[in-house]
Amino acid sequence: MRKIINGNQMVMGTCYYPEHWPESLWEEDLKRMLAHGITVIRIAEFAWSKIEPTEGNFTYEFYDRFLELAEKVGMKVIFCTPTATPPAWLTEKYPEVLNANMDGVLYRHGARRHYNYNSPVYLEKTRIIVEKSASHYAPHPAVIGWQIDNELNCEKDVFYSESDSMAFRIFLKAKYKNLDALNEAWGTVFWNQTYTDWDEIHVPRTTYSDSTNPHEVLDYTRFISASARAYAKLQRDILRKYIKLEDFITTNGIFGNLDNHQMTAESLDFMTYDSYPNFAYTKEDYEKFSRTLGDRMWSRNLMEVRSISPNFGIMEQQSGANGWNTRMAAPTPKPRQMTLWTMQSVAHGADYVSYFRWRTCTMGTEIYWHGILDYSGRDNRRLDEIGEIHKKFQSIQEIAGARYQADAAVVKDYDNIWDAQLDVWHQDLEKISQQSLFIAAQKTHTPLDFVYLNDEGSSTPLENYKVLIYPHPVMLSPERVRLLENYVAQGGILILGCRSGYKDMTGKCVMDKLPGLLTNLTGVDIPEYTRTCPGDEPVIIHWGQERLEAPVFNDQLAAQPGREKYTRVLGYYENSYYAGTPALVQNTYGKGKVYYYGSVFTERAAEVFLEKLGVKTPYQAILELPECCELAVREKDGKKYYFVLNYSRENVTIRVKCPMRNLYTQAVTAGDVTVEAYGTRIFGE
Ligand code: GAL
Repeated sequence: MRKIINGNQMVMGTCYYPEHWPESLWEEDLKRMLAHGITVIRIAEFAWSKIEPTEGNFTYEFYDRFLELAEKVGMKVIFCTPTATPPAWLTEKYPEVLNANMDGVLYRHGARRHYNYNSPVYLEKTRIIVEKSASHYAPHPAVIGWQIDNELNCEKDVFYSESDSMAFRIFLKAKYKNLDALNEAWGTVFWNQTYTDWDEIHVPRTTYSDSTNPHEVLDYTRFISASARAYAKLQRDILRKYIKLEDFITTNGIFGNLDNHQMTAESLDFMTYDSYPNFAYTKEDYEKFSRTLGDRMWSRNLMEVRSISPNFGIMEQQSGANGWNTRMAAPTPKPRQMTLWTMQSVAHGADYVSYFRWRTCTMGTEIYWHGILDYSGRDNRRLDEIGEIHKKFQSIQEIAGARYQADAAVVKDYDNIWDAQLDVWHQDLEKISQQSLFIAAQKTHTPLDFVYLNDEGSSTPLENYKVLIYPHPVMLSPERVRLLENYVAQGGILILGCRSGYKDMTGKCVMDKLPGLLTNLTGVDIPEYTRTCPGDEPVIIHWGQERLEAPVFNDQLAAQPGREKYTRVLGYYENSYYAGTPALVQNTYGKGKVYYYGSVFTERAAEVFLEKLGVKTPYQAILELPECCELAVREKDGKKYYFVLNYSRENVTIRVKCPMRNLYTQAVTAGDVTVEAYGTRIFGE
């Protein structure tokens, strides 16, 4: 039985760095944690030199002493492999282990994650340190699980070292077998890029204005993902040999250019995530992105995490201001905000929440990334709040193992995500639609899932959902289309937005009539399309009583001739030179229906779809909430738990329409309830 995320208990933890503090503080620190409900700590993820201070010399005493103490006081430990920070002796002697920028300039010692996944030397050094650490520390009774590395693909998710070029060639040979096939897949006849020898192929290199072969970059991104996954798997295979049967393997964070679903399936028992909702208030690009929802925007990341592991852990939950000395400067969490963010994580499926970090570091780049305690370690408001959260955790133990409930899901896949990264036409659509769908669902209190698709299947069965929205599946394979066809044929409802089906899996445009492979499923033909013209009046789609703005892109639709029995035009363009042209077509396919919508989904369009298809605000008979509150529902053994999270800085009134148990107090509650600023409530049936 796993020691955490086992469906039986809700557990609190923190990240601790014994190597940052005098040993004289250890015992007091651990006992204070325990007194505040923290029973698990994560250690050693950046401490390679503590175990192998010089090449080939291994010393275990430091963590032996620490683990002995942990065992003595009753603290459980998640031990980490330290590969995110190779030591100076290693990078100095073997510079080929380093990652490089696109010009081939190496990233030198001094930061972290400066290694590459493909250097044979680094792979060997990794094998050795993981083998040594695991064989020595895994049997220890205080150790309950392992974290692989730290935040794979964080900091940099592109790799341009010589080792990467060499490994890329091997990856491509395995995929294409011969250069003719590669040249065909990459369309190298364009601009005379034809390859005549495998050695002519490199990871992408500097070109002017960053333009390079998009089909190559797509394969390169797949290659990075495969490299990171193989690296996790290498570590996992070693760990498995040594860890106790009931102990677990995880890694933390979800980062770009990495198929986290496949990595988890191959190498992890569950995913853990590092949740810093305060980012909503710091990074410039979040300014626009999170204007409407602020820190609530982080729920979208948690949706991603639970699409990987329905019950997951938070390895690093924000407990103080965030800041490096070089970038980021965010405020300290206000009273109750740590509780709010904790319950945000729990609402989405976290059964383990570990705070980053116990005490704020006094040295290095992260001197402003505050933990629970400040530099002095004195008692403070945030520590008190941890104690309060612990009391709440005790009152919600029955929720452990409960799963988030949603009738609607947004379909995603890594190929389209990666294609959109480098294709600005695709990217513009995806950004607007993804954001609108999330915000519309949040504001209308409509629980929503993400479901990831690949050729083999989906991260959760598609038939779990009444409605699927696949906003812009630009790239499609016949296998994926078959999965969608089966879903609809059996009674599902599928909504597709503009630009669906115009590329194949190499990222090249298909020569078919659009929407390509989706023609049969949608009953639609797209004779013409255009980006909207800046400066023109907004294009409007008329759908029943609704007049919806249709920005960015407009597919001009026609129902396919001869299928009138099945297709219905529901919406038309109202203006522009294509006024009167169909903009929304419904097709009956088997027992289900498909809606092809000719534009991106604005917030209003998203809301109208949710409403017309009967999945909007499913709990309105039970709870009435203001827009500023998030509603999440977890269910276990037929019992539902309703999370109400107030992200606003004002007290709000909610209405509990049927009597329910307030889990924090166990009191039966009905009628109007005041939820204080940043307050949370959990109701049970
Ligand atoms: C995380 C990382 C931690 C720490 C924290 C604050 O991304 O895993 O090691 O760096 O951010 O920056």
